[in-house]
Amino acid sequence: MSTPVMQGTERKRLDVEWVRAQFPSLQRKVNGYPAAFLDGPAGTQVPKQVMDAVQNYFLESNANTCGAFATSRSSDAIIASAREAMADFFHCDKDEVVFGQNMTTITFALARAIGRQLNPGDEIVVTTLDHDANVAPWRALEEKGVVIRQVDIHESDCTLDLEDLKRKINAKTKLVAVGYASNAVGTINPVGEITKLAHAAGALMFIDAVHYAPHGPIDVRALDCDFLACSPYKFFGPHMGTLYGKREHLLRFRPYKVRPASDSLPDRWETGTQLHELIAGIGAAVDYLAELGRRHDPAAKDRRSALLSAYRATRQHEMALLARLVEGVLAIPGLRFFGINDAKRFDERCSTVSLRLANHTPTDAAKFLGERGIFTWDGNYYALNLTQRLGVEASGGLLRIGLVHYNTTEEVDRLLAALQEFARG
Ligand SMILES: Cc1ncc(COP(=O)(O)O)c(C=O)c1O
Repeated sequence: MSTPVMQGTERKRLDVEWVRAQFPSLQRKVNGYPAAFLDGPAGTQVPKQVMDAVQNYFLESNANTCGAFATSRSSDAIIASAREAMADFFHCDKDEVVFGQNMTTITFALARAIGRQLNPGDEIVVTTLDHDANVAPWRALEEKGVVIRQVDIHESDCTLDLEDLKRKINAKTKLVAVGYASNAVGTINPVGEITKLAHAAGALMFIDAVHYAPHGPIDVRALDCDFLACSPYKFFGPHMGTLYGKREHLLRFRPYKVRPASDSLPDRWETGTQLHELIAGIGAAVDYLAELGRRHDPAAKDRRSALLSAYRATRQHEMALLARLVEGVLAIPGLRFFGINDAKRFDERCSTVSLRLANHTPTDAAKFLGERGIFTWDGNYYALNLTQRLGVEASGGLLRIGLVHYNTTEEVDRLLAALQEFARG
């Protein structure tokens, strides 16, 4: 496949052939069909670099940390290097990067630590658009008398109701918890603007960037948020979670930890033995994205610039696929689309689409597609507040199609043909 160059900006289009060659699992076949992995929002495939890093860790460095011998020193170095990679990814300092089991577990631990300093009557703002991992950990603090306020959405396009958000933030608000992008309907929230609103009220801002991370660059410095969590397994890495926390807060709040463990940053937030082999894989996932970026912009001078270049290329590719997908699904009779469907507003969304087909449950649609090698998701994807608000929870939720940068035009066309056939049946 050739890689035509865009006029004007002189940036190359995404080299999808090279991208796909990095992901061995994309070669899978199902019932004779090539597998189309449209299940990225639940976890993406991983490039060979990530698999190698995990295997090499076991081969060459397997040990616990901080020992006075070679494999332990090597483990320390690998973890430090992965932390630096994540610091470039978040755009923060390396002692502000915390590794953990997954975003949900990290957020419960953080909420419990923050909760130690909250009083009855203090308020936390959550949203109707969020995954429950950014709702339940905060709701758990209701046991301490904390009051939870939930921001509504505009049902017509599944965007956050910012007027409602402004009404719900007040002098008692201690923290605002908002997703960067919806894992159900793809809406990208104005998290920079919301951070300003939170800070103006004296509240902390926590961003769930799990769904945004495979689609766009994160810049915690520009956002000025206090905490931001994401999960490497959603951006081409292994099944783990990571947290950015502003240094002052990571020092100020007291995590639950074992006594002999270091109280320095970020160790105090990483109590217990970490998943060293997967942390090695996280470093490799960030480096895969940087390599992709350098291929598209050889002038990228450092890893952060290479990451920004990668996201410029992947975003352009994903938006072209999204436009084709949305136009195609809107033409299917009886289809109900959830979220922004106007191409002029696509900068407010990412390439994750949810829909329902008249007279069919999302599970039946997903099964039909699955038999044809097309992997989609059905149900609520844990965005429970949203499926309840949209009135679809009791009838099976939604059908989700998630496009990431390794997906192709051919896969979108196959999906559209299969959906049309299913809708007719
Ligand atoms: C938007 C969003 N937030 C949080 C999570 C939870 O992440 P983890 O599986 O790492 O706990 C998910 C997982 O699907 C998600 O999509």
